[in-house]
Amino acid sequence: MKIAVIHGPNLRLLGRREPEVYGSHTLDDVDRALSDLAGELDVDLETFQSNHEGELIDYVDDASARVDGFLINPGAYTHTSIALRDALVGVDRPFVEVHLSNTAGRERFRRHSYLSGVASGVVYGFGVQSYLLGLRGLVARIGG
Ligand code: DQA
Repeated sequence: MKIAVIHGPNLRLLGRREPEVYGSHTLDDVDRALSDLAGELDVDLETFQSNHEGELIDYVDDASARVDGFLINPGAYTHTSIALRDALVGVDRPFVEVHLSNTAGRERFRRHSYLSGVASGVVYGFGVQSYLLGLRGLVARIGG
């Protein structure tokens, strides 16, 4: 089984970006933790980060030919991007949406997600653990 991990805009700033909200882990720490878990679950991962909506959409399209599902933290595009939602629905692969922070307890504009209604599941509020729980859920959904 192969999973694509997508990090949306500003996630490369992890570690120095609002640590009181997002914690002190860097994106490399997140990717390392995911890679360790992937080894345990016997799944292959590929990882992509972009700050650009169109690049994320192109990546979803390209990667869909070689992966069984997506684990995605869409960052702020969660709350704005119908195009990213359409891409994920269009490629017909299951995906899990994850967030480090508890978006339900933050500003009102973060409470709506264009993706969650079409996701296999959503995990938010657990920091790096959100990604790990999301990967476990996605693998179980795909049938690993
Ligand atoms: C985030 C939450 C989003 O609202 C925000 O724009 C991010 C990070 C999270 O992981 O908590 O960039 O997706």
